[in-house]
Amino acid sequence: MYAKGYHDLGTPGSTGGAVTLEVDGATVTVPAGTSIMRAAALAGGDIPKLCATDTLKAFGSCRVCLVEIEGRKGFPASCTTEVAAGMKVRTHSEALAKLRRGVLELYVSEHPMGSCPDSSRCDLEHLAREHGIGESRFAGPATARDLHTHEPVDASNPYFRFDNDLCIVCSRCVRACEETQGTFALTIEGRGIESHVAASAAQPFLESECVSCGACVEACPTGALMEKSVITAGLPQQAVTTTCAYCGVGCSLIAEVTDGAVSRMVPNRNGRANQGHACVKGRFAYGYATHTDRVTKPMIRKRITDEWREVSWDEAFSYAASEFRRIQAAHGRDSVGGITSSRCTNEETFLVQKLVRAAFGTNNVDTCARVCHSPTGYGLKHTLGESAGTQEFVSVQHADVIMVIGASPTEAHPVFASQMKRRLRAGAKLIVIDPRGIPLVKSPHIEADFHLRLMPGTNVAVINALAHVVVTEGLAKEQYIADRCEKASYETWKKFVADPVNSPEAMEKISGVPAETIRGAARLYAAGPNSAIYYGLGVTEHSQGTTMVMGIANLAMATGNLGREGVGVSPLRGQNNVQGSCDMGSFPHEFSGYRHVSDDATRSLFESMWKVQLGSEPGLRIPNMFEAALDGSFRGMYIQGEDLAQSDPNTSHVTAALSALECLVIQDIFHNETARFAHVFLPGSSFLEKDGTFTNAERRISRVRKVIEPLAGLADWEVTVRLSNALGYPMNYTHPSQIMDEIAALTPTFTGVSYEKLDRLGSIQWPCNEKTPEGTPTMHIGSFVRGKGKFYVTAYVPTNERTSSRYPLLLTTGRVLTQYNVGAQTRRTANMAWHSEDRLELHPHDAEARGIEHGDWVGVTSRAGDTVLRVEITDKVAPGVVYTTFHFPESGANLITTDNSDWATNCPEYKVTAVQVVKVAQPSAWQQRRQAKIPAEPASS
Ligand code: SF4
Ligand code: SF4
Ligand code: FES
Repeated sequence: MYAKGYHDLGTPGSTGGAVTLEVDGATVTVPAGTSIMRAAALAGGDIPKLCATDTLKAFGSCRVCLVEIEGRKGFPASCTTEVAAGMKVRTHSEALAKLRRGVLELYVSEHPMGSCPDSSRCDLEHLAREHGIGESRFAGPATARDLHTHEPVDASNPYFRFDNDLCIVCSRCVRACEETQGTFALTIEGRGIESHVAASAAQPFLESECVSCGACVEACPTGALMEKSVITAGLPQQAVTTTCAYCGVGCSLIAEVTDGAVSRMVPNRNGRANQGHACVKGRFAYGYATHTDRVTKPMIRKRITDEWREVSWDEAFSYAASEFRRIQAAHGRDSVGGITSSRCTNEETFLVQKLVRAAFGTNNVDTCARVCHSPTGYGLKHTLGESAGTQEFVSVQHADVIMVIGASPTEAHPVFASQMKRRLRAGAKLIVIDPRGIPLVKSPHIEADFHLRLMPGTNVAVINALAHVVVTEGLAKEQYIADRCEKASYETWKKFVADPVNSPEAMEKISGVPAETIRGAARLYAAGPNSAIYYGLGVTEHSQGTTMVMGIANLAMATGNLGREGVGVSPLRGQNNVQGSCDMGSFPHEFSGYRHVSDDATRSLFESMWKVQLGSEPGLRIPNMFEAALDGSFRGMYIQGEDLAQSDPNTSHVTAALSALECLVIQDIFHNETARFAHVFLPGSSFLEKDGTFTNAERRISRVRKVIEPLAGLADWEVTVRLSNALGYPMNYTHPSQIMDEIAALTPTFTGVSYEKLDRLGSIQWPCNEKTPEGTPTMHIGSFVRGKGKFYVTAYVPTNERTSSRYPLLLTTGRVLTQYNVGAQTRRTANMAWHSEDRLELHPHDAEARGIEHGDWVGVTSRAGDTVLRVEITDKVAPGVVYTTFHFPESGANLITTDNSDWATNCPEYKVTAVQVVKVAQPSAWQQRRQAKIPAEPASS
């Protein structure tokens, strides 16, 4: 059942020309193709319905929506009958009421009144009451269970249950699983009275192909499919529209609140990014926010070997401030710095970088986006002129060819994946470039036209080979290039990619992808006519991450695939606010809006607003902070909402650097790996506890709204304000809207953004200023932001990380649908039912050669370190390649990853690590120490 109070229009909208008709005497004009049911709802009246809802195509099975049409015989179903000019419709009459009563009585005979766990949420019982039906004449007094098969309720899914006895077989759930989610996990089995809904091969939901997106639960008009939380909590008293705090899709969600607690999360059907859909994380996994592990009291300790001492907020701020000032007095202004978080709001991120620059007086600020999408910012800024993706998500519905590079949307960006799959089912072609057989390569009704299964670390070789085919086979869009790109750069690039060293045949030896596959994919992409590229961390987290981003932009420019709907270059951002944290000036060399700190005009703008002198030299990046900590020149750090000790590569190096700090201040909602090295712990607030905004992967700024009060008493932005005040740099904001006003005043791409406008429009895609007051869904229309697009030569340079007889396999890392990033949130939810440990994927050939069997413990050793994981033998990875996730701290996945990083941005090379895998019988030394809570060993470097 959908969110309380929503007016369901019955069938999806249409885009045809205007048609005027009469419904119950009222004139209504709607687009051609609209159903009578929707037209009536738009005119303010509601026709009874059971099998229809406005997110699914009309089905016409329940027959309660019958109407009368002047001049036509019979009673057509209003959900499946389209409007026509001059049509006169009657939706209510004695004859219709009689027919509907008859149909409803039959349903009630199968589903007696009062059967549902929450009758107020059952459309059938509601309609029956409206039609004066108490009990059906077709059955004696009974419960649904008496009348049916007495099948047990399927409560296997941790979040919802299925009671077949309450099912009216309207097939809304089956259609939601197909049309909205695209998983095809449900079917109707049996015939007539025997027909019933079955998950996969009549399995319990938890064991079926179901990915627990909840679309079927929302679509169900009775209590057959229902959230367990709703059954427990009952009706909500309040509903607050907010934005999901998990991935970069940024789904708009409605939090229903019962007795001061969230009882249900429902995707907003007016949400432009998610179009009324959500995934298992956003819809169900919000329980971490009130988990008993939450830290709600500030704490301090002198040494990291001391016990934590709970203190007042005032004492915590004053201790942290005095420590930072002491360190700066002894070691200079630049001996301290801060890290902003891609999980926090724009306003909070903006404040942390302001605190570092204005209160600390240094540019030593960086963001966790350093380790994921920094090459995106650099690569797209240099080629196209803006550090962001070019499209909005709905643009994919206009794509003819979709190229997915180094991303697994069904796992990491599931709601966008559902939109993409809808387009693929409608006929778009698919090219996947990935070392793994990601689920998108072959799933129900979808099969990739080309899967370029390259060896990790050879992206640039493949993108150059694709470009080689485009250029040498005359597939480049010369007129587009002449009109929109720098001629000299194009000529140089064209000569470079045309060189036979970049041919598919030459690159086959490097990448392992057959030349003919590369040629076929290049021809398909170039032919379009609308070809769109979506990419993820498999592009950026390489020593040539920036080169690859530039290579992608080159290819899109050369084929004319930028500047309109259905095309573009779209980075799929990992965390909810990666785009926003980058936009907000979190990098040591840039103020908000990507303006360099050395630019005098920009700096003086900030100086006059902030009333302080600012540095013109870039500060330290995260890896440089670690180096400086180890050499003693960097001694104090403020980290908001980021767990560097788990998420950054080469854990031993990171923890050695952290343990060298004299003052580490952590602001987080849970104890984490980094907190082991902290001296001050400031309790953070979850997304439910604060106001603010997030910016998703399509540059969409959406409101985060407070649903419950902060558990620790202060929202994150208030913590930064109080810390700044304790440092002697006054901040006086009383609401995050004032911070957004300051961002707008200082950032050209945000000039037109305000909370009032966000409330009015729902969301805004930046740039939003005088030229585009309602935002910019598609970038680079007509011309590129930098003027002429610039091609860059992207020579393939192999990574230093090579296989050898000692380390013969290549490890690459990623994530799964049900867990998120370092797992701090999802590990504290029932999502553990699906994925409760990080495993190592190993190809059967490599397993056999090592005598390893499915489920064995294996030691994974690289040049950086070693760990022990349980093995999963699968051909999802190619021979010679292994894969793992990094959601659990105890797996120590980043002990193995190395210090290699992108040449331009220092983004770590998580995706390529040479390893050896052997069968072992016990955890690694690090794991044993961690288990015994013994501090890390001192670093060797
Ligand atoms: S929860 Fe989602 S994936 Fe699972 S059966 Fe329902 S619609 Fe399908
Ligand atoms: S995790 Fe991503 S896809 Fe899932 S609900 Fe949240 S924003 Fe949407
Ligand atoms: S709502 Fe039209 S037939 Fe069911």
